[in-house]
Amino acid sequence: MSVFNSLGSNYDFGFAIRALFPEVAKLFHLPGGLGLDLKKYLEEKYDGEAILLFKGREAITLALKLLDLPKNSQVAINGFTCYAVYKAIEKAGCKPVLIDIPRDDLNLTRSDLVSTLTKNPDIKVVIVQNTLGYPCDIDEISEICKEKNIFLIEDLAHSVGAKYKNGTEAGRVGDFVVLSFSQDKIIDGISGGALIIRNKIYQKNIENSFKNPSVALQLKDRFYPLLTFKIRIFYNVGGKLFHFVLKKTKLLSTPMQGTLYKFSNLPEWYCNLINYQFNNSDKELRHRRKVAEIYSRNLSKKILSDSIVKNIDLSANLRFPIFVENRQNLINYLKKDNIYISDIWYDAPIAPRRFMSEINYKNDCPNAEKISEKILNLPTHKNISEKQALQLSNLINSFVIHNS
Ligand SMILES: Cc1ncc(COP(=O)(O)O)c(C=O)c1O
Repeated sequence: MSVFNSLGSNYDFGFAIRALFPEVAKLFHLPGGLGLDLKKYLEEKYDGEAILLFKGREAITLALKLLDLPKNSQVAINGFTCYAVYKAIEKAGCKPVLIDIPRDDLNLTRSDLVSTLTKNPDIKVVIVQNTLGYPCDIDEISEICKEKNIFLIEDLAHSVGAKYKNGTEAGRVGDFVVLSFSQDKIIDGISGGALIIRNKIYQKNIENSFKNPSVALQLKDRFYPLLTFKIRIFYNVGGKLFHFVLKKTKLLSTPMQGTLYKFSNLPEWYCNLINYQFNNSDKELRHRRKVAEIYSRNLSKKILSDSIVKNIDLSANLRFPIFVENRQNLINYLKKDNIYISDIWYDAPIAPRRFMSEINYKNDCPNAEKISEKILNLPTHKNISEKQALQLSNLINSFVIHNS
């Protein structure tokens, strides 16, 4: 079978059936079936008030709105991130300030934060994100935030289950925690997000009175695991064409639509899938870690980053990044062996690249630009076996040898 980075790779056939018929889970008393209280679970896990939402980006906007900041307040973010983060800040009436990442890391550091704060002393909020699951230097960052009375938001879109260097689980430090349960995340419920209000001053027992997302959107999500399962299985015998047609006819659920920024409630069937994913998350995290270790042990050192390799144990290992000069050639080379890993997190400082024209960017992040040209993410999800990870490492090494 082919290997993909995304395209529903967090799901198997059982999950597809579960998404289509959530009642089946209840009927057979499967763990994570209907009835578990996701809100309560998150409140205990992250020690705060939880509000369930349809997307993680809504949680960012909601956190900033709850802070009731003056219009155009500055919010500092990792200068290597997703456009959804940038846009969510604008939706709250605030201004994103990009902090470049170091040349050899994927997260903003203390020294970059300090120099950005010197240039922009009015920054009110810092959002950290533990890119691809790899932990940022939270102790140093939170110390500066406390010192300067800046609110800290931990965005765990990539990093549910990651640990910081001090051993604390990610999500137990900031004033707010943002969770995303969207496609291809660690906890993948097709869609979903949550805000955890940890700072007691802002806990208000908020009643979630948002409307449900449209039935059309929900239907697309319900079918997404089954459709992507079929595409992946039959990729070389019609699956590719099927994928193309579904995309063209907009029948395949996609996370980057402009309509996804308004507050929406998270319907119960998503909560059940998310519960199910949380139930399995220890096992999944162990698998991701093992696969990342296989890559780190077997791949040529030339394409590895020290800071990634030494943090595998702490990371949630959403993907395993390598850094190559001739990325597109490698992507094409791997396709010959049915390995499809062309979707890159991130292919620009604010990704996907096509959104760069929509943001106010003045070469603020030269390191992120360079990294975004070289980074390629290897899969760590449940649908890549340890054996396949070793085969993939060998293939990449042979490409590196012949192209250096
Ligand atoms: C770091 C980060 N935060 C938040 C989000 C937004 O998550 P969602 O798609 O659930 O809105 C993304 C999107 O991929 C992301 O990469």
